[in-house]
Amino acid sequence: MSKPSGKQDTSSKKAPAGGPAGPFAQRHLLGIDALSKDDVKALFRRARYYADINRDRAGPSDILKGLTLINLFFENSTRTLASFDLAAKRLGMTSLTVPVAASSLRKEEDIRDMLLTLDAMQVDAMVVRHTQEKLPARAAKWVKACVINAGDGTNEHPTQALLDAYTVKARLGGIEGLTLAIVGDIRRSRVAGSNIRLFQKLGADVRLLGPENFLPDDPPDGTETFTDMKTGLKGADVIMMLRVQKERMETADIPDKSEYFKTWGLTEKKRGWSGKNSLILHPGPMNRGMEISDELADNPDCSAVLQQVENGVAMRMAILDLMLHQRKRENQ
Ligand code: CP
Repeated sequence: MSKPSGKQDTSSKKAPAGGPAGPFAQRHLLGIDALSKDDVKALFRRARYYADINRDRAGPSDILKGLTLINLFFENSTRTLASFDLAAKRLGMTSLTVPVAASSLRKEEDIRDMLLTLDAMQVDAMVVRHTQEKLPARAAKWVKACVINAGDGTNEHPTQALLDAYTVKARLGGIEGLTLAIVGDIRRSRVAGSNIRLFQKLGADVRLLGPENFLPDDPPDGTETFTDMKTGLKGADVIMMLRVQKERMETADIPDKSEYFKTWGLTEKKRGWSGKNSLILHPGPMNRGMEISDELADNPDCSAVLQQVENGVAMRMAILDLMLHQRKRENQ
């Protein structure tokens, strides 16, 4: 299913039905599997509402006034950290980013003690990114705050997948029946981990494309794998390019930039192998001239990279709103 690309449809500004927060029963957001289709639909509706509000510069709301969010990023981030901070502030929350590198972890404080210490400050939500798989899930058992996984090792990055799927829906009208081609370093990608789960849940076909040593040893059920880009892209509606995660590779496994670009970097010519009007996504940060050409990265008609960033704030507002609204009511 391919539809003409273009700007996302943000014509409706009506608040979604179902009360201020709508139906959503998640205490934590740790991975995609725990979300029902109805949860995802509720998040999409609310994200659309906030996307419009953000464009109108409507100013902070007081919907979550009085609640506190703490950002705990044990790995680097630009997009996820900034968008959670903005999302919280636009909903009226107090948002604090803990300077992890300068924290008492340096004095050998145990991470559980660190989280319990912060939790004792009457915190409502913790956004956690860590190199260790499942660390946010463990944190959710330690603390009273709601925990949101902002990326755990090579496992999952659920809020990225939600904003990616929302962006595709906004651009192409829907997800069911689409073919998504995920290209590149899939084996080490938590973005791929969450997107495979979410796009399959929403009825898309998912293909995994990359060199043999970038593909998972045990591909998820229902996915097709390709080591030839031309075959794998045939008829694809969405092309999701992934970052080559050098920080997670042995030096010997890091590919030569120009060699990789020749085979796996997305160019106008290679995009021509996919479906007409295919949409390009990249979670960022991009390695231009390795994963994607400047020409495609900078063309908003076919690339949704900056739209993903914009929608990231709206989706994270939706997540905080739906997760924390009930908590606010309980506190009142
Ligand atoms: N996509 C993503 O997670 O980007 P950051 O590492 O900049 O947060």
